[in-house]
Amino acid sequence: MRIVVTGGGGFVGSHLCEALLRRGDTVWCLDNFSTGEPDNVRALRDAPGFHSLRADVTSPFDVTGPVHAVAHLASPASPADYGRLPVETLTVGSRGTENCLRLALRHGARFVLASTSEVYGDPEIHPQPEDYWGRVNPIGPRSVYDEAKRYAEALAMAYRRSLGADVGVVRIFNTYGPRMRPYDGRVVSTFIREALQGRPLTVYGDGSQTRSFCYVDDLVRGLVAMIDSSLSGPVNLGNPCEHTVIELAEHVLAATGSSSAIEHRPLPVDDPTRRRPVITRARAQLGWAPRVPLDEGLRRTVGWFVSGPAPGGGPPHHPVQEPVEA
Ligand SMILES: NC(=O)c1ccc[n+]([C@@H]2O[C@H](COP(=O)([O-])OP(=O)(O)OC[C@H]3O[C@@H](n4cnc5c(N)ncnc54)[C@H](O)[C@@H]3O)[C@@H](O)[C@H]2O)c1
Repeated sequence: MRIVVTGGGGFVGSHLCEALLRRGDTVWCLDNFSTGEPDNVRALRDAPGFHSLRADVTSPFDVTGPVHAVAHLASPASPADYGRLPVETLTVGSRGTENCLRLALRHGARFVLASTSEVYGDPEIHPQPEDYWGRVNPIGPRSVYDEAKRYAEALAMAYRRSLGADVGVVRIFNTYGPRMRPYDGRVVSTFIREALQGRPLTVYGDGSQTRSFCYVDDLVRGLVAMIDSSLSGPVNLGNPCEHTVIELAEHVLAATGSSSAIEHRPLPVDDPTRRRPVITRARAQLGWAPRVPLDEGLRRTVGWFVSGPAPGGGPPHHPVQEPVEA
């Protein structure tokens, strides 16, 4: 198949590009690298069937030749990123999604939207099934992301209903793994960085809030299954093993061998208190379930943080160093 992956230079997108290439697909990776890294796909440059284009999907675009599927992952995705890029996040969720839907429609291609558990907001129902409509503050600091994804879902479903587009929506829950950026503000990458730096692990609130962490290889298997299906979804993709943030901190300390202390800070506005997917639909309709246990996934992720691949084949980089001011 010939598959367009928007956001293919990001954390999840680069793993998806790799998985698709491994099974023989031709991949067009479209990315403006606003939050992704060219290094994420540098090793794929010479892979047969891999094409990388620096492009902003908020402007109309086309791909030459047939397209069989469009996986739309382009969007700032961590609270630090969408906090820094609020208007860009709304624009890529709205205009960007529409451009990708039009591309899919023009080519008669399957379209898969990478939506998020954030559409459930701070949920009153636990765990969260797909038929729960969510509790989102439409004007809070997280709303630029949550509402962009809710709009993107609505738009995708409208294209399916009114124009017959072959559209599927997945709602991704917290995912972690190699290629997360150490300063992206996500809890797993932040804890690993702090532990490796010997700094206190920053826990917001008392750490009793829960999250469910899915290893990236598991998520990518689910995304590929969704691309190959004709399901409309939405389908939750995430790991139903729920952990408090304090428990996660303890697992990270064990995986890094660090003796860092834990430091508590005030909870951010609209921070969800509980997060755990119901994955009955993914199990039944996609035959999908996560396989990688947390400790194993953390071990692999810490390994990458300690000795990430060298950008451009240079000497090993040290991703846990402080960013340098421009
Ligand atoms: N990682 C998670 O835990 C998680 C959870 C829920 C949903 N998701 C969704 O999965 C997708 C990928 O997330 P990620 O964690 O890999 O984030 P990421 O920031 O690493 O990747 C997103 C990519 O999109 C690119 N991008 C942003 N705006 C763009 C634009 N206008 N045009 C072209 N490219 C653009 C970025 O440069 C980046 O490479 C996102 O849509 C995100 O909302 C991820």
